[in-house]
Amino acid sequence: MKAFVLCRYGKKRELRLTDVPAPDLRDDEVLVQVHAASVNQLDSKIRDGEFKLILPYRLPLILGHDVAGEVVKVGAHVQQFKPGDKVYARPDDFRIGTFAEFVAVKASSLAPKPKNLTMEEAASIPLVALTAWQALVEKANLKKGHKVFIQAGSGGVGTFAVQLAKHLGATVATTTSAGNAALVKSLGADVIVDYKTQDFEGVLHDYDVVLNSQDAKTLEKSLSVLKPGGKLISISGPPDPAFGKQIGAPAFVRLAMRLLSSRVRRNAMRRGVDYSFLFMKASGSQLREITRLFEAGVVRPVIDRVFPFESTNEALAYVEAGRAKGKVVINIKSRTFQ
Ligand SMILES: NC(=O)c1ccc[n+]([C@@H]2O[C@H](COP(=O)([O-])OP(=O)(O)OC[C@H]3O[C@@H](n4cnc5c(N)ncnc54)[C@H](OP(=O)(O)O)[C@@H]3O)[C@@H](O)[C@H]2O)c1
Repeated sequence: MKAFVLCRYGKKRELRLTDVPAPDLRDDEVLVQVHAASVNQLDSKIRDGEFKLILPYRLPLILGHDVAGEVVKVGAHVQQFKPGDKVYARPDDFRIGTFAEFVAVKASSLAPKPKNLTMEEAASIPLVALTAWQALVEKANLKKGHKVFIQAGSGGVGTFAVQLAKHLGATVATTTSAGNAALVKSLGADVIVDYKTQDFEGVLHDYDVVLNSQDAKTLEKSLSVLKPGGKLISISGPPDPAFGKQIGAPAFVRLAMRLLSSRVRRNAMRRGVDYSFLFMKASGSQLREITRLFEAGVVRPVIDRVFPFESTNEALAYVEAGRAKGKVVINIKSRTFQ
């Protein structure tokens, strides 16, 4: 099969389009013909070598963390899926590889694709929607009447998180530049802060939850937005010791996480708020709940651009530039090259 492969770690290093064997299928996995994949910042970060300590991948590696496609074969222990089923997923770490014609996905990480979405729309969802779900539902237990500040409401995570938070009944504040204000308003944002002309910490007060996805300065400033007892959940670091424990990281990595997060943890404690780092994980059962939200029309996909398979490197570069409005998708099924 054709796949885009990372042969050596390196900043902005191009993935190589090459022929590779189709993935081995384990007993608990489903082989999916990839119709569409979407691009995440995580793909570029892994390529750059930034995740070597957390995700020590051996190369060569096929990148790609989101898939929508059709089941072609199931492993011996799989009962929930059959060939022909239309599915989508964020494959598990160490089993990624959706920038390819086929990918093997654990049945427990897969869900039926929302019936009202195209393959391209479905591929745009799993990683970012699961991230928002795990932050707002699992960690924050966001409820009606809560106030949540979701940074970068126009990005991949933000476009889903704003909609999910509204669905949960929260008041939602978000940051974006002026050009994207109409987009985030249409997704349900109540308070919109133009981060280029305003300081959010001067505008937002007494929030219950902040979903941080930006740099260390933004993280520090986010603390002042929260009321005592509030929760600061960061998906852009720094990882904390609890996360190190959760992934069974070696002692030296856990120590590094302790040191890297000591400042924000100390400042959080001083203010009586809770700091935690989230690294999302695959989950078919949560994805089924997310499928229901799409099918009920409670949330909608937001796609910025669709690239053809042969332009996968361009798609990565586009996302890396950090200006995407919603998600960037790669159409793989209708590839035009041989
Ligand atoms: N830990 C996890 O499990 C996890 C999961 C998913 C993502 N992440 C991380 O979360 C971050 C966001 O991911 P993403 O996929 O949402 O990114 P993305 O889609 O690439 O974000 C692009 C958007 O960010 C906006 N933006 C850029 N700088 C901003 C700023 N200073 N303030 C507010 N908005 C800003 C841009 O809007 P403008 O053009 O208006 O600036 C653009 O619409 C990345 O670092 C990613 O690696 C982590």
